[in-house]
Amino acid sequence: MTAARRLRWLELTPDYRCNNRCVGCWSVQDDGPSMTGAEALAALRQGRAEGVTALWIGGGEPTLRKDLFALASLARRLGYARVKLQTNGMMLAYEGFARRCVEAGVTEVAFSMKGAAAATHDRLARTDGCFALLVQGVERAREAGLALEGDVLAMASNVAQIPAMVALGAGWGFARFRVWMLSAVDGAQDLAAVQAEVPRIEDVAAGVAAAREAHAGRPDDFVVSLHTPACVLPPEHLAAAFDARAFGMRVVNPGGHAFDLADSPMEGGTFLPACAGCRHRSRCGGLRRDYLAVHGGGAFHAVA
Ligand SMILES: C[S@@+](CC[C@H](N)C(=O)[O-])C[C@H]1O[C@@H](n2cnc3c(N)ncnc32)[C@H](O)[C@@H]1O
Ligand code: SF4
Repeated sequence: MTAARRLRWLELTPDYRCNNRCVGCWSVQDDGPSMTGAEALAALRQGRAEGVTALWIGGGEPTLRKDLFALASLARRLGYARVKLQTNGMMLAYEGFARRCVEAGVTEVAFSMKGAAAATHDRLARTDGCFALLVQGVERAREAGLALEGDVLAMASNVAQIPAMVALGAGWGFARFRVWMLSAVDGAQDLAAVQAEVPRIEDVAAGVAAAREAHAGRPDDFVVSLHTPACVLPPEHLAAAFDARAFGMRVVNPGGHAFDLADSPMEGGTFLPACAGCRHRSRCGGLRRDYLAVHGGGAFHAVA
């Protein structure tokens, strides 16, 4: 029997609109469905009924929602102690936006990073000038008193910049970082181009390890990686392996479609013959099929 999972986070994906066009992003459809106020209320109530007190608003780009402030304040009234925006940061550059977030009850912001400088970030987000807005958005969010963190999207052409992205974000006051390895999901537009940007897992692991070493003394979860199983991490950096089951997140999309993050194929789910006998097997989320399709399974091996 599987132990009951503890739900800790509710993620709402209110819609799929965005002001960036990041390479490989599966989450943008201009004509896609949009969550109604009644759906959001039902999801928030359900989360509270299950004891969840932390809300994560993603997307698409949540800062484009006209009902963002109403949603945040509703969540706080219902008893959510934490309300996090996961954002490209562009809207936060505008005068007063960060302050309005705070007034509505947003407590924290996770900023998406695709490069340590404008040339890489703007190219991978496919939006000229968006790095400059991100920088300004971070500054305004900090001034407004929001807690800050970073979501680093690792791609073939920025993987060498992982330590520099973490150093930059740490300088801005980010308290922790999650590294996401680009996935090339079936049906992605221009799949071959997206697959060409899927980084090698060894390079992601090396970047994560280097970033952690450069910030020794920070908490163990200062830099975690969503898609690097224990066998590709140096033993001294096993704490970098993100445990989706322990994280306890339920994602709710428009139309009421809901799933647990730990069950998403994005989190792995595939095991190889080479995994047999691995000491980490019971806690490992497995490998991503889209990664194996690009780079094969040569990097993975059972740990004795
Ligand atoms: C889809 S975005 C939505 C929220 C917001 N627009 C942002 O960029 O943070 C959520 C996270 O997914 C990551 N992401 C986007 N495309 C991805 C992909 N193909 N594989 C893995 N992560 C991806 C982004 O970098 C971001 O950290
Ligand atoms: S900003 Fe976020 S939602 Fe928009 S395209 Fe980039 S990753 Fe996707």
